[in-house]
Amino acid sequence: MRKDVRILLVGEPKVGKTSLIMSLVGEEFPEEVPLRAEEITIPADVTPERVPTHIVDYSGTQANVICIVYAVNNKKSIEKVTGDVHIGFLCVYVGMHRVPLILVGNKSDLVEHSSMETILPIMNQYSEIETCVECSAKNLKNISELFYYAQKAVLHPTGPLYCPEEKE
Ligand code: GTP
Ligand code: MG
Repeated sequence: MRKDVRILLVGEPKVGKTSLIMSLVGEEFPEEVPLRAEEITIPADVTPERVPTHIVDYSGTQANVICIVYAVNNKKSIEKVTGDVHIGFLCVYVGMHRVPLILVGNKSDLVEHSSMETILPIMNQYSEIETCVECSAKNLKNISELFYYAQKAVLHPTGPLYCPEEKE
């Protein structure tokens, strides 16, 4: 049994990484956000899987699961997700370990229709991607689900995870 889970959030500038963390912890949308949230630890007894969970804003710390955040209203941030380069970089970045990835479409409050159409082909292409979720730090939609999926990806991975070495 794993003793803890480390969740790392990465993504283009201003997609809302820090806001997602602060919305989860504070249960409300922060009007003012620092550049980076302090590392936070959620005690075991308040997580669904009863495992202490650390959430890390963008940093080089070794993680067990990586949330790639994009903003659903920002095409550039979605295109960055699709790039081999980005995902390949992440695999190298975590030292070729088996690290599940979760795609997180933030700012769902700003658009009418979902980004799933664009995201699903990417999901199907990379077995490292465990799941995807659309959410909003602003209206707190799917925030606790996001961090639950991240925990679950570490504790109960569904598929074989690997980083093919040819992906630089
Ligand atoms: P960097 O640290 O610069 O990489 O940015 P970040 O990804 O941490 O984004 P941050 O949390 O600082 O949010 C960037 C801007 O988006 C801020 O003005 C937030 O208020 C806004 N924002 C974050 N999440 C949401 C959301 O769900 N909906 C809306 N409408 N705005 C959001
Ligand atoms: Mg930030």
